[in-house]
Amino acid sequence: MNICMIGTGYVGLVTGACFAGSGNNVACVDIDEEKIKSLSRGKVTFFEPGLEELVKENYDEGRLTFTTDLKSALDKSEIVFIAVGTPPKEDGSADLSYVRDVAQSIGKNMTDYKIIVTKSTVPVGTSEMIRDIISKQTDIDFDVASNPEFLKEGAAVEDFMKPDRVVIGVDKEKVGQKLRQLYEPFMRSYDRTQIVSIRSSELAKYASNAMLATRISFMNEIANLCERIGADVSDVRKAMGSDKRIGTAFLFPGVGYGGSCFPKDVKALIQTAEENGYKLKVCSAVDDANQDQREIFWQKISSYFDGDLTGKKIAVWGISFKPNTDDIREAPSLYIINKLLENGAEVSAHDPVASENAKKELGNSVEYAEHNYDACMQADALVIHTEWNQYRQPDFGKLKELLNAPVIFDGRNLYSPEKLKELGFEYFPFGRT
Ligand SMILES: NC(=O)c1ccc[n+]([C@@H]2O[C@H](COP(=O)([O-])OP(=O)(O)OC[C@H]3O[C@@H](n4cnc5c(N)ncnc54)[C@H](O)[C@@H]3O)[C@@H](O)[C@H]2O)c1
Repeated sequence: MNICMIGTGYVGLVTGACFAGSGNNVACVDIDEEKIKSLSRGKVTFFEPGLEELVKENYDEGRLTFTTDLKSALDKSEIVFIAVGTPPKEDGSADLSYVRDVAQSIGKNMTDYKIIVTKSTVPVGTSEMIRDIISKQTDIDFDVASNPEFLKEGAAVEDFMKPDRVVIGVDKEKVGQKLRQLYEPFMRSYDRTQIVSIRSSELAKYASNAMLATRISFMNEIANLCERIGADVSDVRKAMGSDKRIGTAFLFPGVGYGGSCFPKDVKALIQTAEENGYKLKVCSAVDDANQDQREIFWQKISSYFDGDLTGKKIAVWGISFKPNTDDIREAPSLYIINKLLENGAEVSAHDPVASENAKKELGNSVEYAEHNYDACMQADALVIHTEWNQYRQPDFGKLKELLNAPVIFDGRNLYSPEKLKELGFEYFPFGRT
């Protein structure tokens, strides 16, 4: 099939490369000229395991092309995916200006029938809005569909290739069948496509993210309670997760969720409900609890130093919002690092891949260490934000030698409190004493 992918960020590029990988011709479009130049040289501008190889292979085979010229990409395609950003506005609702711009351009430039598919996460009613915008620009026949993306950054290619489900929202059966066909190569063991109404599809994405965020915030509150009553959250989690109705995934407590999806999607869902005269009380509490969790982590650090971090050097391990990505959008680390700096601390941070992005956000206010142990040299404490594999079993002897004081604040519960106590560390995880 001939596909046009508008927006070559985390979602658009992965989707485009994976569709090309199954034999389709995919023309990727972006307004960011630098990005398109870099992609045309086979260089991916962000870190995502396995993506660069996939992009290069399909680019070399001529199935994946990159351009800033929407019209030329549209001319070659029957199915057009919109995968641009939908960042949060001040009030928490989704900013649809990029989606609107794209819809306008499609309407102005299309010359024959297209299926316009929204892959971006968009509030209920957006596909109808896209239909209205395009209809005002052209009399040419077209259909709209919703196909939200459920991939996880850090495992995006794998998730796309082996999806748990593919949700397709349509109002015409023939459009659903066409899109089902496009996904067939990823459904070889059994068909996991779910063809539903456009509105159900749009809501399914938000509801899924809000559910996952709810599990995290719920578990964070249980961890906070564990600390107050002397229970161990890892034992509580195991007991809960053994119940098949609950399951073990997404029950790890920590400094809270971040990233480009959960925070904005929970807020946007709350906003959608409000616009429709309904209050989502659980989601509002989830959002509040997540904000509180960062502050709770900060208070642990601050109170250890009696509120005075002037002249203290703090080592930070992990800046990205989760491992295997360089994405720092809404990362809890940024909140904590800014608090440390505001309170007079010197910060020496390490992240295997996110330091370049962190520099854009934090500038030179932070020292960026080449190696995770370098960050700890003469630091008064180590603060962990991201559960990168390489932080899981460090050389504690070396750490103890490097740190001024053997103190670890662990936002991801990586270590055993008993073991660290034995080794002479003061260790502050979540929900374990
Ligand atoms: N990142 C994720 O893990 C993830 C997962 C599922 C869904 N989503 C959703 O997918 C959407 C895209 O997210 P992302 O993380 O890929 O965003 P991103 O910011 O990485 O990429 C968006 C891209 O769109 C481009 N763009 C903006 N306006 C354009 C226009 N008029 N024409 C062409 N290109 C344009 C930008 O230059 C950018 O390259 C969002 O709605 C997001 O919520 C993201």
